[in-house]
Amino acid sequence: MTDAVQTPSNGDFTKRVFSGVQPTGALTLGNYLGALKRFVDMQNEDYETIYCIVDLHAITVWQDPKTLRDQVREIAASYLASGLDPAKSIIFNQAAVEEHAQLAWVFNCVARMGWMQRMTQFKDKAGKNAQNASVGLFTYPALMAADILLYHATHVPVGDDQKQHLELTRDIATKFNHDFGQDFFPITEPVIGGPAARVMSLRDGSKKMSKSDPSDLSRINMADDADTIAQKIRKAKTDPEALPSEEAGLEGRAEARNLVAIYAALADESVEKVLTEVGGKQFSEFKPMLVERAVEKLSPISAEMRRLLDDKSEIDRVLEGGAERARAIAAPILKRTYEIVGLK
Ligand code: TYM
Repeated sequence: MTDAVQTPSNGDFTKRVFSGVQPTGALTLGNYLGALKRFVDMQNEDYETIYCIVDLHAITVWQDPKTLRDQVREIAASYLASGLDPAKSIIFNQAAVEEHAQLAWVFNCVARMGWMQRMTQFKDKAGKNAQNASVGLFTYPALMAADILLYHATHVPVGDDQKQHLELTRDIATKFNHDFGQDFFPITEPVIGGPAARVMSLRDGSKKMSKSDPSDLSRINMADDADTIAQKIRKAKTDPEALPSEEAGLEGRAEARNLVAIYAALADESVEKVLTEVGGKQFSEFKPMLVERAVEKLSPISAEMRRLLDDKSEIDRVLEGGAERARAIAAPILKRTYEIVGLK
């Protein structure tokens, strides 16, 4: 492994991936295709990979203390069942590495109020009741920047909804480097893209598929069984037209586009390529094909999740080992940050 505190004058940092998922409920096909599947791809490429379960982020909204730890284990099980390998990737929960909260405080003092006020996710999550939202929900993006920069991560795979937070991470790194006159933090590259960067609700093609949507029919959960997946896809909203054979034909057909994009992501193909195969088909013919793809991908994952959750000791061992390895990278970077700021 390379030296943990990299401060190259030419800005040439080791290729290191960091990403995270909140333990706030069962994961959806959106989380899988937009994040987990890409975590696994990057683990098998030329990167050091660090994947976190961000429990400190989860408590920005109320979490039942009795279930939070189990929710962390469930996400860990989803990570492992999707193919993350603790021998290749560092897997841990955020609260186990105290440096996250410490660096977040420094970044709270770097980020500007105006930057935070522009964050659309806060507005969405706080809704009409912003005065009653936690202060943590407001400053959440500074903690997210700390997660990433604590490891000098250079690449962050996420779904499209995290784009603005990653821009803020770059702004924080740039301002810190400028204010303190050194290239200490890397300017992180978001890794967003492919057909599943934004998987939409099965009931409404204008809304993101989300674990917090009140309707379970709006999403496929990673742990759904084959019958449930089939039923949800059968009931998914569509239009009466046949599928087009070119992408332009999906214009103005949000639901059709979404189902084709899901199929493409599951098959590791482009939307264009899928349309050459399915163009002209009615949904009555296409939906069973989609069910088959989804079941083929998700069934082994949910079976492995069930096995892992049966004996929590294996998951706990992975998280403990991961936290130790994460701390070994994080501690020297936080120490150096404190020195740069004049706190040590
Ligand atoms: P979270 O927990 O909401 O979602 C986890 C990941 O899943 C992606 N995602 C989707 N992708 C495509 N289509 C969808 N419908 C969909 N829904 C969710 C999200 O974009 C995300 O990549 N703030 C982050 C967690 C976080 C983080 C970080 C991520 C905290 N610190 C540092 C990267 C780096 C969040 O709330 O993700």
